[in-house]
Amino acid sequence: MSNASPEPSRSSAPDWSKDSRFWDKTARKYAASPIKNANAYQQTLDHTRRYLSPSDRVLEVGCGTGSTALLLAPDVAHITATDFSAEMIAIGVAKASEQQIDNVDFARAALPNDDWQNEAYDEILAFNALHLVRELEAALGALHRALKPGGVFISKTVCLAEQTRLWALPLSLMRLLGFAPYVNLLTFADLEQTISSAGFRIEETELYPPPISRFIVARKD
Ligand SMILES: C[S@@+](CC[C@H](N)C(=O)[O-])C[C@H]1O[C@@H](n2cnc3c(N)ncnc32)[C@H](O)[C@@H]1O
Repeated sequence: MSNASPEPSRSSAPDWSKDSRFWDKTARKYAASPIKNANAYQQTLDHTRRYLSPSDRVLEVGCGTGSTALLLAPDVAHITATDFSAEMIAIGVAKASEQQIDNVDFARAALPNDDWQNEAYDEILAFNALHLVRELEAALGALHRALKPGGVFISKTVCLAEQTRLWALPLSLMRLLGFAPYVNLLTFADLEQTISSAGFRIEETELYPPPISRFIVARKD
């Protein structure tokens, strides 16, 4: 059954309601836009599937309209697909119903979030989401707690600071005008260091197009 909780649960995210409004406004357009690089997306799905088993319980964070969760649903027992945008979640719920997929539950949840059950998931997925989180360390700590020992955290993250830190000014202006969300300008090293500091052991890294997109598989030992 697919469902959505009415309010996002979260611990101390400072300004998620303003951030989530940006994504609420974007949701319909996001859902209607074609995937930018279909080959890279297929590669991401295939790479992720190597870690999935039919009995697995999966948590996805920043799931958007749920496209990835719905495509991976046949590979696992259950997916909890979460996002702090009510509009994104509503579209995900509708798509699951249309596609008659009954092993994906949608829920609103903001990162960081301390409400997930400890050691409940075999895999946690975060695609194109970590660079949008204000309190990345706290968010990763919460995800580490939610993962079963031996489980893997699989993420793909745009690291804009690999291109140039000069993104900061145009992004701030675009945010002021409401054309851009909050974005954390990360380098690969920043991201990997923060994931490791949360207690994960990085097992694999790969570059995906655009060339500043880092795919990381990190295990909880
Ligand atoms: C670029 S979209 C990516 C959606 C999907 N994972 C994909 O790859 O198509 C980023 C998503 O992360 C969500 N998001 C951003 N910051 C978040 C936060 N702090 N907590 C939960 N969701 C967040 C947004 O609402 C949006 O749906």
